[in-house]
Amino acid sequence: MAGMPTSVASPPTLAIAEALHGKLVFVFGGSAGMGEAIARLAADNGARVAIAARSRDRLAAVSENLGAQSAGYHCLDMGDEAAVGAALRSHGSIDHIVVTAASLSFRPSDRLERAEIEAMLNSKFWGPLHVARVAKSVLSAQGSITLFSGVAAYRQTADTAVLGGLNLYLESFAAGLALDLAPRRVNVISPGITDTSLWSRQDEATRADFYARVAGDLPVRRIGSVADIAHAALAVMSNGFINGTVVNVDGGARIV
Ligand SMILES: NC(=O)c1ccc[n+]([C@@H]2O[C@H](COP(=O)([O-])OP(=O)(O)OC[C@H]3O[C@@H](n4cnc5c(N)ncnc54)[C@H](OP(=O)(O)O)[C@@H]3O)[C@@H](O)[C@H]2O)c1
Repeated sequence: MAGMPTSVASPPTLAIAEALHGKLVFVFGGSAGMGEAIARLAADNGARVAIAARSRDRLAAVSENLGAQSAGYHCLDMGDEAAVGAALRSHGSIDHIVVTAASLSFRPSDRLERAEIEAMLNSKFWGPLHVARVAKSVLSAQGSITLFSGVAAYRQTADTAVLGGLNLYLESFAAGLALDLAPRRVNVISPGITDTSLWSRQDEATRADFYARVAGDLPVRRIGSVADIAHAALAVMSNGFINGTVVNVDGGARIV
């Protein structure tokens, strides 16, 4: 249209591999589950990938698997603001930050140990906030942050009151952050039940029952895979016009 400005701060949308080639992607929670799959897919699309989590052994193994695309790993707890800041600053300029890190417990509020609540807060409340507080100095102007909420925000159970509340908080937090950090983009992915190490604490039979029950209730008749989530994360990361929003990757869990 005549007279419309043609230059914009955020990049035009490119094919994922074109958008990510040579970029630095930092994944908090990249040693397992969805974070590991996102790290792998970003590396496969030409990004250099740094990962962070608490367990050094798993970080080292995933980092080695990333091969030449690895930009190293950081052993830290998301609740430690100095460690999160130092890890991000050590890379100079970062193109995309993803936070999947989560340490969760599923029980009614009065049966959660104080330490379990602290672990949820450290990973899902303080972690994203610690990232946000350093983002202006480390995240490129065309960069993005992708946070992770989850279906418990919309489909509560007696065991997920705290977790669901934190998930919903994150979705509002991300919208405010997108304004604060502009032109950098901030989005949230809200997964449905997905086969990851999050559920490995259940014995195999209990887990199989749980997955079958969830799948049976969903319109798509299956639970999520880490590939479902990783492809969504890369789309959000590389699409310069997706901003301040929540992408539900849940098989339709909110419409049943
Ligand atoms: N899987 C599902 O069904 C599902 C459903 C809805 C929403 N979600 C959300 O999706 C996200 C990813 O979940 P996931 O299933 O991929 O989890 P996961 O398989 O349990 O992986 C969690 C990752 O976060 C790291 N981590 C946990 N607490 C941390 C902390 N305090 N500081 C640093 N790193 C920490 C873990 O490594 P260390 O333990 O070594 O630190 C691991 O790398 C979470 O936000 C979760 O709430 C998952």
